[in-house]
Amino acid sequence: MHRKVTVVGAGHVGATLAQRVAERGHADVVLVDIVEGLPQGMALDMQESAPILGIDTRVIGTNGYEETAGSDIAVITAGVPRKPGMTRDDLLKTNQKIVASVTEQLAKHSPNTIIIVISNPLDAMAQLAKHVSGFPRQRVVGMAGVLDTARFRSFIALELDVSVKDVQAYVLGSHGDSMVPLVGNTTVGGVPVAELIPPKQLDAIVQRTREGGAEIVNYLKTGSAFYAPSAAGAQMVDAILMDKKRILPCSAYLDGEYGINGLFVGVPVKLGAAGVEQIIEVKLTREEQAGLARCADEVRQLVDLMGLS
Ligand code: APR
Repeated sequence: MHRKVTVVGAGHVGATLAQRVAERGHADVVLVDIVEGLPQGMALDMQESAPILGIDTRVIGTNGYEETAGSDIAVITAGVPRKPGMTRDDLLKTNQKIVASVTEQLAKHSPNTIIIVISNPLDAMAQLAKHVSGFPRQRVVGMAGVLDTARFRSFIALELDVSVKDVQAYVLGSHGDSMVPLVGNTTVGGVPVAELIPPKQLDAIVQRTREGGAEIVNYLKTGSAFYAPSAAGAQMVDAILMDKKRILPCSAYLDGEYGINGLFVGVPVKLGAAGVEQIIEVKLTREEQAGLARCADEVRQLVDLMGLS
């Protein structure tokens, strides 16, 4: 029997992610959206590429949840972007309604699924998905760190003109200013990055990573990044589907780890068939620990605003 991956939201991130997962050929893909015809058309288009790519997986588009039943993994990308005049709180409330209703449907039709949240504000939406689904913490995880780390690694590889494969790095915490890049743990071919890039350039790379999302929005004007976010989501799907037990930075529910209780924050986790199989506690500098605590405070504020605490 084929495995099944559901992707909710057939927008830029969702459609690209569905394509990436379908093209790997490891699982059937169900694409869900509220816009009539959109997921059906995209899914059919992807399905018609299967003979060219030589893959035998099915891609189904739907406006309902019947077809999602029994999903191994469900990825939530549904939501609205921030529009002019909209405050962060307005966005939070709108996406809260969307993510809550999507989660409810997913949990109802696939009670054993593992949920990957991509909708923003990420950590808060992951917290909401856990709250609404009632799933254990192993089965709800958010995508942020893989993307931020990919941006950081890209900039370092470009700066040094080396393969991205040889750049090892971790970016913890949340997107944006509160992001915590572990510069001390970043190596290039085993050599600490601080020995290869002067402090000023390294600071500029860290800053560019923090503003990575905004840099793309400034170019695109009408939308936000989706190639790298969907690649990051697909890597997490792979880790779970193939039980790879990858160590990846993800938003996970902390229960005392890193001194944080009852909140989703970006930390390294072991991602395998059971979902978040382990929270990895790396030794942080005092500054990094304070940065992570700041992230937790920000997430708590949003969680309070949603009335979840
Ligand atoms: N159920 C299903 N789909 C929904 C719902 C819902 N209740 N509400 C909205 N959607 C769909 C929209 O119809 C749209 O097709 O979600 C899709 C969102 O797509 P885009 O606007 O293109 O947004 P995208 O760039 O894909 O980003 C999605 O991921 O990275 C985050 O910040 C980003 O929160 C955003 C999310």
